[in-house]
Amino acid sequence: MGWKIVAKLLNLLHLLPVVKALNRFLRLLTAWGHRLQFTMEWVVARHPPEWFDHFLDNSWKWHQSRNPLSWERGVFGSLAMQQGCRVLDLCCGGGFITYHFFSGRAASVVAVDFDPKAIAHARRNFKASNLVYRCADIRTDMPEGEFDNVSWDAAIEHFTETEIAQIIGNIKQRLTRNGVLSGYTIIEKATGNRILITNTNSNRKKIWSSCCGAFSLMLGYLKPDGVISSKTAVTSISGPAKPRSRSMTVGCDKFAVTPSPTRR
Ligand SMILES: C[S@@+](CC[C@H](N)C(=O)[O-])C[C@H]1O[C@@H](n2cnc3c(N)ncnc32)[C@H](O)[C@@H]1O
Repeated sequence: MGWKIVAKLLNLLHLLPVVKALNRFLRLLTAWGHRLQFTMEWVVARHPPEWFDHFLDNSWKWHQSRNPLSWERGVFGSLAMQQGCRVLDLCCGGGFITYHFFSGRAASVVAVDFDPKAIAHARRNFKASNLVYRCADIRTDMPEGEFDNVSWDAAIEHFTETEIAQIIGNIKQRLTRNGVLSGYTIIEKATGNRILITNTNSNRKKIWSSCCGAFSLMLGYLKPDGVISSKTAVTSISGPAKPRSRSMTVGCDKFAVTPSPTRR
């Protein structure tokens, strides 16, 4: 009610250009603040975080890079989800994608990450009545329950091959018969070099194999129970158009896998 009255009054006074100018100034201010945060967290910090605050994309980085990868991941993940589904979001980070892309479609979402700072950020910024955040290590404490969708997005490369095999087994147990596992993972650097991920929280190190290592590894674990669903499997290569940046582009692959009908 209040918004409409104020808006009508401002329109009567022909103040729309002033409001637009104010918003432009606020956007510039916000972009400046988020660029500073990005530089502090990711450029000059000795130990950058393991999760990315997507407010940085929202307020500055997307405009600067013109790379929609973060949004693409959210959209592709949500395409695998039916209205009213039950979602388990593994390694949810700060909850931005969980909230904006999954929780609007799902009946319920359980989102889990082992970084207390990420979970605190998610609880502070992305509350919803159908969304529960848990701080837990999915290697040892994956939430119980039955789910129509499991999202494991931008995190697979944080685990060793043995851990991936065990986690996939636990995912299978939790997925319903036609359930879908979806997510994104780094396959390789454009240079073809192996990717080194340091897990700062537990001081573990994981070296990812080159080529299409992560993706074929996943498929290997899912066979013969899992099949790539032709309806939902999507492949996407995201990267900025500028040749200078292209050397930093990583291959990425979206996978969506349904268990075979023989299971359960
Ligand atoms: C690159 S972030 C991705 C976050 C989120 N899925 C997104 O797309 O924004 C990877 C996340 O995996 C989490 N993670 C790594 N190892 C984990 C573990 N063993 N159990 C739970 N979360 C873990 C990290 O804390 C981090 O938040």
